[in-house]
Amino acid sequence: MLGNFCYSNPTKLYFGKDSLENLSNELSNYGKNIMLVYGSGSIKKSGLYDKVTEILKKCGKNIFEDPNVMPNPTVEKLYEGCKIAKENNIDLILAVGGGSVCDYAKAVSVSTYCTEDPWDKYYLRMEDVDNKIIPVGCILTMVGTGSEMNGGSVITNHSSKLKIGHVFGDNVFPKFSILNPELTFTIPKYQMVSGFFDIMSHILEQYFSDSDDCTSDYIMEGLLKSLIHSSKIAVVNPEDYEARSNIMWIATWALNTLVAKGKSTDWMVHMIGQAIGAYTDATHGMTLSAISIPYYRYIMPYGLKKFKRYAINVWNVSPNGKTDEEIANEGLLCMENYMKELGLVMNIKDLNVTPEMLSGIADATFIMTGGYKTLTHEEIIHILEESMR
Ligand code: NZQ
Ligand code: ZN
Repeated sequence: MLGNFCYSNPTKLYFGKDSLENLSNELSNYGKNIMLVYGSGSIKKSGLYDKVTEILKKCGKNIFEDPNVMPNPTVEKLYEGCKIAKENNIDLILAVGGGSVCDYAKAVSVSTYCTEDPWDKYYLRMEDVDNKIIPVGCILTMVGTGSEMNGGSVITNHSSKLKIGHVFGDNVFPKFSILNPELTFTIPKYQMVSGFFDIMSHILEQYFSDSDDCTSDYIMEGLLKSLIHSSKIAVVNPEDYEARSNIMWIATWALNTLVAKGKSTDWMVHMIGQAIGAYTDATHGMTLSAISIPYYRYIMPYGLKKFKRYAINVWNVSPNGKTDEEIANEGLLCMENYMKELGLVMNIKDLNVTPEMLSGIADATFIMTGGYKTLTHEEIIHILEESMR
């Protein structure tokens, strides 16, 4: 375990079938003006919208609605949300939806009273917040991003073809999050498995870095095993509460900052995935699944020891009589077979990426240096090409 760090996570979580019962108590901590942020209608279909608005009314709150937050929320939508929040002197932003809705709520929370263009300040210049922050609460309906207990907020700017995540400090984390696994039963299969892979990718991005003995790696191996076990059940029976509730809990711990402690962390799968997202608006988890196997095959020789450990400890590969390379390759093969079993996208052509886009995608990829290999522009193109075969 190396490095100096501080660990603090101020988000209060309410978990389980009855967790919505805690909303009214939480609301008593805030003023009257509530901005209700949600997506394109799934919460109306499921009946959650009616339940939440009834609680808000019973608590005597004024509701200001901000619907139609799209998957991969845009900067234009952010400007609209800031206007609503400012005009109505909002006391709490209540995000009801998936990662996009939660991320967007955080972006509005830090941007409403920002005196500069928030895209330039937070997403291009990556500056900290130095203005009033509107508190955010979440009711989560889609599992994967970990946005319910972190400071991440990813915004897409289609005109400049950039999708950028700002990881804000714990002053921007949701003040509370309500996690009822039953609310996730209605997610369409494509979104559900995409979320499962997003969780796996978050863990692997942190796992595949460094070479010291680190407790975080042991925690991550446990999370991965639990995810593989439960996702295989959930893909066959999406209403298996035990599996879905475990997955919801794993997703939160995969990206609530704990397992990153003591680690340098990689994040290149996400950086390439976000650049693909900026070009195609594809579902986040699928951008990650399509490039993960080509990426990991490419960097494996640079982190061979860890890939061997991954194969043995996570995929139960028997090391007997095999070279380290054979063991590591077998681990990646197990991962690839598991991904196919879930029905994940394995090729960027299926996300509408064309050969003409590759150079632009590589240009739009932020190159991180915490993993086993710092990629060049040409190496990113090579990985993208491998995913088009
Ligand atoms: O808009 P509605 O109608 O609600 O439909 C949504 C949306 O179409 C639907 N959905 C959500 N819950 C549902 C449901 N449909 C039926 N029943 C339910 N219970 O699912 C679709 C996708 O929702 P979205 O919120 O976009 O998915 P996700 O949670 O995967 O969020 C993706 C966004 O989060 C960012 C991604 O880049 C992307 O913009 N990320 C945020 C991170 C963070 N905050 O730390 C980290 C991640 O790596 C990721 O980058
Ligand atoms: Zn992700």
